[in-house]
Amino acid sequence: MQRIKTLSEYFKKYELSEKDPAKFWSQIADSFLWKKKWDNVLESDFENADFQWFKNAQLNITENIFERNLSQRGDKTAIIWEPNDPKESPTYLSYKELYKQTCTFSNALRSKGIKKGDRVIIYMPMVPEAAIAMLACARVGAVHSVVFAGFSAASLADRINDCEAKMVLTSDGNFRGNKTIPVKDVVDEALEKCSSIESVIVLERTKQNINMEDGRDSWWHECIEDQPKTCDSEVMDSEDLLFILYTSGSTGKPKGVVHSSAGYMIYSSYTFLNVFQYDEDDIYWCTADVGWITGHSYIVYGPLLCGATTVMFEGVPTYPNVSRFWDIVDKYKVNQFYTAPTAIRALQAHGLEPLENNSLDSLKVIGSVGEPINEEAWHWYHDNVGKGKCPLVDTWWQTETGGIMISALAGITPNKPAHASLPLPGIIPVIVDAEGNELNGNNVQGNLCIKSPWPSIIRTTYGDHKRCISTYFSHYKGMYFTGDGVKRDHDGYLRILGRVDDVINVSGHRMGTAEVENAINEHEDVIESAVVGYPHDIKGEGIYAYVIVSTKLNDDEIKNQIINVVRKVIGPIAKPDKIQIVSGLPKTRSGKIMRRILRKVASNDFQNLGDTSTLLNPDVVKEIIDGAII
Ligand code: PRX
Repeated sequence: MQRIKTLSEYFKKYELSEKDPAKFWSQIADSFLWKKKWDNVLESDFENADFQWFKNAQLNITENIFERNLSQRGDKTAIIWEPNDPKESPTYLSYKELYKQTCTFSNALRSKGIKKGDRVIIYMPMVPEAAIAMLACARVGAVHSVVFAGFSAASLADRINDCEAKMVLTSDGNFRGNKTIPVKDVVDEALEKCSSIESVIVLERTKQNINMEDGRDSWWHECIEDQPKTCDSEVMDSEDLLFILYTSGSTGKPKGVVHSSAGYMIYSSYTFLNVFQYDEDDIYWCTADVGWITGHSYIVYGPLLCGATTVMFEGVPTYPNVSRFWDIVDKYKVNQFYTAPTAIRALQAHGLEPLENNSLDSLKVIGSVGEPINEEAWHWYHDNVGKGKCPLVDTWWQTETGGIMISALAGITPNKPAHASLPLPGIIPVIVDAEGNELNGNNVQGNLCIKSPWPSIIRTTYGDHKRCISTYFSHYKGMYFTGDGVKRDHDGYLRILGRVDDVINVSGHRMGTAEVENAINEHEDVIESAVVGYPHDIKGEGIYAYVIVSTKLNDDEIKNQIINVVRKVIGPIAKPDKIQIVSGLPKTRSGKIMRRILRKVASNDFQNLGDTSTLLNPDVVKEIIDGAII
């Protein structure tokens, strides 16, 4: 696959991708291994959300990682694994070794009855086996669904039940900073509510005592004993499912976003190579967790498809101290470093001292993902981590897009602080107003839509295609609606402004306000609740909950109990930062909660609340302002 090297080449490729997408994408696809080539590059129907890329072609994505790379790069390091505890030895897996371990585990999956199309849940720590689990599923044609290991038993059970998974891959426990998390116990609790799971494979990591259920649970190391070290790859149609990844939307229940085999393969690798400008001997590190789309596309699939060396880190940025990220950059001489603004802001709060003993000389490119990066954090990152010499790629994309959509190409597109900048070739972003009119030209602001199909566009929401159509393809005819607001500045550069729907972004984690409200409402003393986001210095957005209760408990007791309920229903990432007990919520005469008012109060902006006299209960606004938690 050819990499774009100059700005004029970028513009040329962009023009070709607009004029003749089939030619543009087939030229890229030609460098992959196909078991059978396609009949047609693209068939697309926005109205019915029906997209077929590389129609009738056959492939296996793992052949494109292994068989395509092995002769040239067999001994090259594929994965460098840095454990939670820096005193524990790292693991270096060459492409050959990763291939062997993937094949061995693929055979183990098959021996447990896993076959093409079966769904397998991966609920694991950030260890190489998590990547091996994903690749082995792909090798045998099973559909993986990775669930972030911080989610609660209830959330895990919901996801297992939604996709009727047959197997769970997990570990005895997880190391995270100075904590040990009893992951297998969470799985056991979840499985009490699931009937589709036939087997569980458990990786030994923390060596803690766990329950192993006879006939259902087996150890990873025992499953791979005596398995052959090669394994035929399943024949996958281009549109066969590769994975499901659950994500939050503005309605209560997380959606299973579906990605298919060929389109995702082409797009994740193309964007990896071009955005990060990866060179053959570079060491690349993305700090995400494989439980999120960033981990899928830019720790595992994108880099490995390009034959890159990708670093996987098990721990957290603050353990054993706040220099940990920078120690790892120096330890492995990382060239491309990709992280989230929330991590930058958290480290920025510790000042420059933690950076003083690190050279960071190896860095060539630094990247940002997951939420808008504010200018202050952008400059801090650019000046102190990138030492003013590394291009900073602010990459905008989503679980549904499968890969980076709007971003500078490192060192090629001029940098502009806090701007994602320009679309990648093949991506046609448009800005629309509430009525769906396209706002052309520069200096315009509105909702961000995408007008062209791209290879890794969401294919469906698992088990509910209508929901996919209504969420993404029916707001604006003939377009994909992103849910984000955007501004095109006077130079034509795009700046993402954040969500325009009832989704909040807490430390780069997407959360539906309705989902958090549903969790809060599970407390038996809660009558009603409303959740909004508010600006938070480190997390980007914090969670502010207004709750009506009928309880004998005092305020502190009920608030603690509500927090515990949310932890149990969703997980610690969703727990409210602020809870205000109120006697009522501002509602329109038709009974709709006026979230605009709640958002303003939570943001400490008591001016311009608008006309509140027409509300059903105008008095409640004063009470809410008086009791606001600042
Ligand atoms: O609001 C945008 C924000 O994250 C949302 C997508 O979240 P998720 O599907 O979890 O994927 C996160 C990682 C790709 C978007 O709708 N977002 C993502 N990247 C950026 C961003 N907001 C601003 N700038 C970004 N670079």
